[in-house]
Amino acid sequence: MKAGMSLKTMFVTMMVLFLVIPSLVNGKEKKAVDESSLYVRMGGYDVISNVIDDFLTKSWADPRISHFFIGMGTDTRNRLRQKNKNLMCFTTGGPCRVLNRPLEVVHVGLGITDTDFYIIVDHIMVSLKKFDVPDKEREQLHAKLLSLKPKIVNTTEVPLSAPKREGMKETARMANALGISNFNIGRFEEALSHFQVASKEDSGVGEYHFNEAMALDKLGKHSLAVKHFKAAQKNAHGNNKIIGSKILKAHVSK
Ligand code: HEM
Repeated sequence: MKAGMSLKTMFVTMMVLFLVIPSLVNGKEKKAVDESSLYVRMGGYDVISNVIDDFLTKSWADPRISHFFIGMGTDTRNRLRQKNKNLMCFTTGGPCRVLNRPLEVVHVGLGITDTDFYIIVDHIMVSLKKFDVPDKEREQLHAKLLSLKPKIVNTTEVPLSAPKREGMKETARMANALGISNFNIGRFEEALSHFQVASKEDSGVGEYHFNEAMALDKLGKHSLAVKHFKAAQKNAHGNNKIIGSKILKAHVSK
């Protein structure tokens, strides 16, 4: 009798486990795909998978940029494929999870130039056409890709430490140093918050405004960057790295 009761209890428990709990979990976990999403309109996961495989194979074989991928074994390359597939799937509205580290962190220090960036974008665009992604969707993806540029391209210019001048505040100098450390490892949000502290405390130091503008530029906040590049110019104290900065000139001439 006791054994019969426990069998019944076991049966009920298993029903709960197999029927009720999975449906609850799925309800929370499963991401509904919007039929009008770019993901669906471009052809879904199969197309994304083909496009990524195709453009990466071409990029690795392209003598203009293949040096960036030297030393990557098959497993690392397959991981790079999958991370890129998930990223494209997720950002177009598909049901994938992002696997990669932040783009601004993973590309920092590789020395990727504008030219390298556009080579990759071209490879992606050609692959999208090869797998019949329609014009409108290709244009939307193109715009998305271009918006990633500040996270991927490393300018040759770096944030500046301030030379010692009379009356400068030590706390601002320390905040600036922290900002530089964060900037150099691609943590631009954090770098920005330290540069903001420095430029607020010592607003007459051009280097702090310059660094704030550099971080803003990386975060795509160009109109604010212009404001701080201008303040850097005004408070340059003859620092040629500020006066002759290409990135500053590109902003203030806008
Ligand atoms: C078009 C925009 C680009 C996107 C969306 C993109 C995406 C990615 C992703 C998702 C990863 C994997 C990150 C991780 O391991 O967590 C990655 C890594 C990498 N990317 Fe890009 N990338 C782009 C442009 C470029 C360019 C222009 C180059 C060089 C020509 C490049 C070279 C690399 C290299 C070498 C790695 C491996 C870095 C490492 O693991 O140390 N990427 N990229």
